[in-house]
Amino acid sequence: MRPSQPQKRIAELIKTIKEHDHRYYVLDDPILADAEYDALLKELSGLETRYPQFKSPFSPTQRVGAQVSGDLPAVVHRVKMLSLDNTYSPDEIRAWHTRVSKGLEGEAFTMTVEPKVDGVSCSLMYEGGVLVMAATRGDGVTGEDITHNARVIRCIPLRLEGDVARVLEVRGEVYMDKADLSALNRLRKEQGEVLFANPRNAAAGSLKLLDPAVSAGRRLKFFVHSFGLLEGGKPYADQWQFLSKVEKYGLPVNPHNRLCRHIDDVFTFCDELYHRRAAMVYEVDGVVVKVNGLGQQARLGMTLKSPRWAVAFKFPAHQATTIVKDITIQVGRTGVLTPVAELKPVALAGVTISRATLHNFDEIRRLGVAAGDRVLLERAGDVIPKIVKVVAKLSSSGGITAPKTCPSCKGRIVKEKAEDVAYRCVNPACPQQVERGLIHFAGREAMDIEGLGEAVVVQLVAKGLVKDVAGLYRLTKNDLLGLELFAGKKADNLLAAIAASKKKPLSRFLFGLGVDHVGQKAALVLAGRFKDLRSLMAAKEEGLQTVEEIGPVIARSVVEFFKSARTKRLVRSLEATGVNFKEPRAMPAGDRLKGKKFVFTGELNGITRPQAQKMVEAQGALVMSSVSKTTDYVVAGDSPGSKLDKAVQLGISLLDQKQFEEMAHG
Ligand code: IVH
Repeated sequence: MRPSQPQKRIAELIKTIKEHDHRYYVLDDPILADAEYDALLKELSGLETRYPQFKSPFSPTQRVGAQVSGDLPAVVHRVKMLSLDNTYSPDEIRAWHTRVSKGLEGEAFTMTVEPKVDGVSCSLMYEGGVLVMAATRGDGVTGEDITHNARVIRCIPLRLEGDVARVLEVRGEVYMDKADLSALNRLRKEQGEVLFANPRNAAAGSLKLLDPAVSAGRRLKFFVHSFGLLEGGKPYADQWQFLSKVEKYGLPVNPHNRLCRHIDDVFTFCDELYHRRAAMVYEVDGVVVKVNGLGQQARLGMTLKSPRWAVAFKFPAHQATTIVKDITIQVGRTGVLTPVAELKPVALAGVTISRATLHNFDEIRRLGVAAGDRVLLERAGDVIPKIVKVVAKLSSSGGITAPKTCPSCKGRIVKEKAEDVAYRCVNPACPQQVERGLIHFAGREAMDIEGLGEAVVVQLVAKGLVKDVAGLYRLTKNDLLGLELFAGKKADNLLAAIAASKKKPLSRFLFGLGVDHVGQKAALVLAGRFKDLRSLMAAKEEGLQTVEEIGPVIARSVVEFFKSARTKRLVRSLEATGVNFKEPRAMPAGDRLKGKKFVFTGELNGITRPQAQKMVEAQGALVMSSVSKTTDYVVAGDSPGSKLDKAVQLGISLLDQKQFEEMAHG
């Protein structure tokens, strides 16, 4: 490459990457696979390292900056960030419309109607078209500086295009797609972290992270919905014009926004959106109706907290009521006691719910719930359903409190000082703990022992046939024939499945052992690095921490686990049964699916999304995040999203789980 060429290539790459960012984040119509996109970024960053003189501060490689230390600095909003009044019924919207009409002394007015995306408000300050500051709303007067995290949101331009005012502050909603929230929550669950209850909490939490690299992994998105400060530019005539102008600057504007003349059109829109929202990729919790004309807005003014010219109409949450049949206490794999409400089955946002976790005993007290009560259930986005409140106190008894002894083994209960008020049974031989441990070990993501479900495990433990995972490998046909509903063939099959599991790679075995904080991902990383169990057991905390993606919490937990005499005994007896302790070398990449573009939607049974992606990527396929004309296959699992509709529309080949597995395995 001649010296003049790198500069040209850098400019070309920046332009191309920005175009793809726009297609992906704003138009939702990408034409590049993630790997192809990454290759462009890599080429750019390589060139910028070699030729720093050509590096632009607006380059896509410059999004992730340094970590912020300490508290986030406060930012005073020069124009107050208002909130909206909420309404819940068409009557209230009509009343608002009448008030506006009176306020404008009968003058005609139009309205914008915009989806109310469930996220968190954020202000972006552009000076000379360059993003100089991003802030949270805070209390409306003072927010927090989150510039470092706004810069990693790929649909937020670092520089606006076209003729932009000298100072332009746009405001909008930072949010997270439903699928991204589910994936994040799955990961957090695996790592034993508290789950986000809804997209708003997830977005708010992510914006306040100190490390923009972590925030970048959250795949946040943004829609503009209003403006704050405007200096040195032509004022906008109305909200609709503002939205269409900022869209031209390259900012994302919700494509569902609509301009309405009559209040009945507003209702039609609300109705349409209400019925579409389940299929939308992000959570919409209502609509916002605004008087369009900015002059009219000014005449209407505001109350202390919210403008008179706008109003929010909140959709009813996905809710249902049902009866609590019982409150049971589950002893988890690690001994933690979790109260669970056993419910009369009820349909909620498309699924039947028959149990809901009550998390801990404080929650029972807070809700004042007991068996027999009628409760209100709510499910936001793709998250687990929760009991909101008791709606009819039908029980005569009080709610249950933490037991003094373990409901399973009658052993001692210890109250942990942990922030989440956990009570724990500390008897490692506790039958329910052993059961949960065995079920986890046999699970599809661990040793994948078909036929070893809950019903069988419970019997094996109750009869004293199995006391730990090593016991599984000593089971005989006679043992199994003594169980309920076990005929010869079934016993043979289970024994064969148990024997076959001995050959599973170390990563699955390690995950199956259920070391605290070691989820599937960490197990894969550790197994890949140490290759066999003995060397992992010999590793020190510092050594573990040098492994990429392994932090101090996992390192400590692994060392503690393998230090215990009980684990050492277990490992010896597993070794004696011939269980494989080694991680095979990574399979050479095949090219059976070379260049084929895959898109996933919905949940696959027993395979996580990253695993599924790896399966086809190992064969040379490319995985894309959304469907376009160039997609070759759409893999549809349970509760698929709108990607399925799009695939059908475009006539793209659909694969169910079975077809997908056949194709991936060849
Ligand atoms: S306008 C003065 N438009 O809802 C008007 N807000 O409940 C300020 N929101 O704080 C807001 N979508 O975070 C507006 N299309 C939309 C919106 C929207 C979501 C959020 C925003 C606001 C909250 C008020």
